[in-house]
Amino acid sequence: MRSSAERLTAARLLVRVEGGAFSSRLLAGGTVPGVRARVLGVQRWMRALDAILEPLLRRDLGKLDPEVRATLRMGLFETMRMDLPPALATDGAVRLVRRLGCSSAAGMVNAVLRKASVGWRERLAKAEIDVQLAHPAWLWERWRENFGAEPAERAMAAAQEPAATWVWFLLEEAKEALREEGVALLPHPWCPGAWSAPEDPRRLIQEVIAGSAYAQDPSSQLVAHVALALGGDSARLLDLCAAPGGKSALMLRLGGWSRAAAADLRLTRVRLMRPLLERMDATVVVAADATQAPFAAGAWDLVLLDAPCTGTGTFRRHPELKWRLRPEAVGEMAARQRRLFLAGLELVAPGGVLLYATCSVEPEENEEVVADLPAGFERVDLETALPDNVPWRPTEASGIRILPCKDGDGFTMHAVRRSAPA
Ligand SMILES: C[S@@+](CC[C@H](N)C(=O)[O-])C[C@H]1O[C@@H](n2cnc3c(N)ncnc32)[C@H](O)[C@@H]1O
Repeated sequence: MRSSAERLTAARLLVRVEGGAFSSRLLAGGTVPGVRARVLGVQRWMRALDAILEPLLRRDLGKLDPEVRATLRMGLFETMRMDLPPALATDGAVRLVRRLGCSSAAGMVNAVLRKASVGWRERLAKAEIDVQLAHPAWLWERWRENFGAEPAERAMAAAQEPAATWVWFLLEEAKEALREEGVALLPHPWCPGAWSAPEDPRRLIQEVIAGSAYAQDPSSQLVAHVALALGGDSARLLDLCAAPGGKSALMLRLGGWSRAAAADLRLTRVRLMRPLLERMDATVVVAADATQAPFAAGAWDLVLLDAPCTGTGTFRRHPELKWRLRPEAVGEMAARQRRLFLAGLELVAPGGVLLYATCSVEPEENEEVVADLPAGFERVDLETALPDNVPWRPTEASGIRILPCKDGDGFTMHAVRRSAPA
């Protein structure tokens, strides 16, 4: 695909993302790398791009046509992050805006991008760190307060880099076949069984499409390993928020569970995960609301509650979330999570464990959800359930938190055990 065609596709997708579509869905199924880089990159760097563009515009950026906005952002992004010579990026943008049916903006796009490409580095260097690293101000303030300035800055910087594809193999033979083919597979530094192919990531994607490997962020895979360490032999496993089924499938692949059930609220998502989980020997896969789950109370040794959350650990993969999320969403989500957590506890067998996980790094959605325990439950220290070298930090409720980093998304886990009868 030539650059001009890539730009056109990317601009159209950016307009759809601005309209509410999810980039991960639009880009699913092996998009051209140049399109992917532009769509995700513009979303990732939006605040920094806008900080350079806005002073050069006569009208608010927000009042321009979405196509023109996408063109300006992408033109500057190509100079700032794709190392394209400014003249090439500007010419490409001018041609693009015409092809998008906005010819009247061509002169303005040309003038603004020519000016923007001069001295953008110096101008950005003078901006606040949250602008430089393109995160919303409220989120930077919150992370700095909760984790300290340096870890927060590192987390923001990590969230700006594209995430590698990491898989676990459903079929061991598929891994061996790749090796025989000469594909160099790299093991993950701390997540057991996670592999990447840095020189040939598209070959791994082919295995995912063929159903012999499953693509999942290492921090997310880690939840399954922790569940296995907590569950013990022949445990009865219940995954309450299971779709699209990644953690359930990996737990089943790893474990010697005596029984396994998976549920999710959304029927369409349950339909999608059913073939995967049934293939992995899940005994029951149902659509159900976890707050009124149709499962026997007190009958499950390991209940996983991988709760719906704000996803603040996943901006590497879902950069538009940064701009959609409102600060109030954290508290709203926490109230919902607390209801799910209390309902999940009812299902835990005596001596059994509820593992509560989210891909959010916000304390309200994690340690604060599990802070107050009903009588008969106690917190489990998770450190011993972790493999070596995981870059975790403790939470105030004996949980573990991974901040977004080069090797994985941000994630938080807590575990609670129901007392066994004396
Ligand atoms: C973080 S995702 C789960 C990801 C999944 N565990 C995996 O590894 O593939 C959260 C899921 O919770 C589901 N959910 C939200 N509210 C629920 C409820 N009340 N009961 C059951 N599932 C719910 C959502 O549909 C969503 O699929």
